[in-house]
Amino acid sequence: MKNIKILAIETSCDETSVAVVENGKRVLSNIISSQIETHKKYGGVVPEIASRQHIEVILQIVDQSLETANVSLDDIDAICVTQGPGLVGSLLVGVNVAKTLSYTLDKPLIAAHHIAGHIYATDIESNINYPSLALVVSGGHTELVLIEDELKFKIIGNTLDDAVGEAYDKVARQLNLAYPGGPKIDKLAKLGQDSYNIPRAMIDSDDYNFSFSGMKSAVINIIHNSKQRGEEIINENLATSFQKAVVDILLTKTEKALVNFNINQLILAGGVAGNRELRERASALADKLNVELLIPSMEYCSDNAAMMGAVGYYYYKNKIFTDPLTLNAKSSLNLEKIKE
Ligand code: KG4
Ligand code: ZN
Repeated sequence: MKNIKILAIETSCDETSVAVVENGKRVLSNIISSQIETHKKYGGVVPEIASRQHIEVILQIVDQSLETANVSLDDIDAICVTQGPGLVGSLLVGVNVAKTLSYTLDKPLIAAHHIAGHIYATDIESNINYPSLALVVSGGHTELVLIEDELKFKIIGNTLDDAVGEAYDKVARQLNLAYPGGPKIDKLAKLGQDSYNIPRAMIDSDDYNFSFSGMKSAVINIIHNSKQRGEEIINENLATSFQKAVVDILLTKTEKALVNFNINQLILAGGVAGNRELRERASALADKLNVELLIPSMEYCSDNAAMMGAVGYYYYKNKIFTDPLTLNAKSSLNLEKIKE
């Protein structure tokens, strides 16, 4: 097969990103325009504002991406876009740009799954060996995913309430840290001690599911109780205790899945994969179990279009295309039904 260049578009949440990726591996450009500054003052992503801002910048970002990659639209073999899951108003912006490009240029259109993108981000710098296991941890998702074969996913565990990044952001808000609070808690946690009692919800349950909303409530209770007693909260210690509990839960379930399914490769994916403690302790776990650990570079952990270009290549190889006239965004999309 000749070299395949994919123009990938990602607008599922608050990042407008466009990339050009060759053969799923060579990232020729990966332009990311973040809206964090805009949403910061509201303490979280405001969907209405997010979609409007995507509309304002997307065409510039497409141009910039092509320019940086030093290619023209004629050189592109396919257009790939995140179809879902995500905020529907945000997704629609990328989807409509991709449909228009595909139709007017007469190039194949790929409607890719955001989580598949997070997982295949790791395939840019390493190689996924099947079967593999991915711990997907982001602002919207906390999932343990078996990757049985190319684009064949099986979700074996899921959060029953909040996503782990969401819990981080909510706890950060309680500590008056600006959105997104995950990285700030991570930094604080380095400085403190594990002195507060945070419950490890569902850590001993027989399944691979997670629950984080109780931990968030535990933090809120600790803060309220301390206030009532006139005691000062030690933010660093609370961050350390919370983070330790979160990583304990994530890795206990991950270890169980690696052992029970006899898997030799672990992938950390999604924005929370940037977490220092999670990375360090996942590495120790991988050593203990003699499992290969793959973690994408920071640039490919949080939302970006290069990861969509990476997974898009496998859609292309498997000829999983979609009709530019009928494609629609889907706020929830089934990861297990990409390849029938
Ligand atoms: O994957 P991502 O960029 O966007 C979604 O698809 O959700 O993940 C963003 C989430 C936010 O909740 C952010 O607070 C969290 O990832 N996050 C972290 C860290 N870096 C980002 N959480 C904990 N520790 C970090 N170092
Ligand atoms: Zn994401």
